[in-house]
Amino acid sequence: MLIVPLETPRLVLRRFSQEDLKDFFSYACHPQVGPCAGWKPHFSISESRQILKSFIERDEVWAITLKSTGALIGSIGLHKDDGRSVSVKRVRSMGYALSAAHWGNGYATEAARRVLRYVFSEMENPPEMISICHKDFNTRSRRVINKCGFKFEGVIRKAYEDPWFGVTDRWSYSMTGREWLQTVSADQQSL
Ligand SMILES: CC(C)(COP(=O)(O)OP(=O)(O)OC[C@H]1O[C@@H](n2cnc3c(N)ncnc32)[C@H](O)[C@@H]1OP(=O)(O)O)[C@@H](O)C(=O)NCCC(=O)NCCS
Repeated sequence: MLIVPLETPRLVLRRFSQEDLKDFFSYACHPQVGPCAGWKPHFSISESRQILKSFIERDEVWAITLKSTGALIGSIGLHKDDGRSVSVKRVRSMGYALSAAHWGNGYATEAARRVLRYVFSEMENPPEMISICHKDFNTRSRRVINKCGFKFEGVIRKAYEDPWFGVTDRWSYSMTGREWLQTVSADQQSL
């Protein structure tokens, strides 16, 4: 099982449940959240119900909740990387999205760092590498990725075409277990 409960100073990452439906819909319908991550804003609560069902069944997405209130504020997942032909045993691709009302508080970075720690120091049979990517204009996500210490791989020009942003480039990054250890020890030395 991939999705186990994880804690950070301000967050609890846990499995999604049916009870999350209303709160999930309320951020997933926001026009600025999904398109940046490549999915269309949810149009109806029944659409959110379907996606929530797949989150629960597929065991690869954590609900991001606030420790102080228990409120659901987003999701973070480790998926098959469609840009590589290797299996999830070797590489998993990280993706995240947060309710727009909670952007800019460092929550995505806190959640992503905790998931990396889980993968590379706590998980049984971890993947060899975590990959991540963002659309060229997504400076917020770029910043999260840089703060986590991912290595820049390069840019695939004209990688995406969608109704919201037209044609955009994909910036790709990754991190191996060894690189994660180097990042963590560099962070400790700078304290
Ligand atoms: C990307 C996303 C998850 C970031 O979440 P977050 O909790 O706001 O991220 P953090 O607060 O940890 O970090 C955001 C960083 O971007 C910076 N930032 C905020 N607005 C910015 C802007 N307009 N331009 C550049 N940087 C910006 C913040 O200052 C912060 O950096 P800092 O810590 O150096 O100050 C969130 O914006 C989101 O859900 N976006 C929509 C979905 C999405 O894009 N998912 C990722 C797909 S790759």
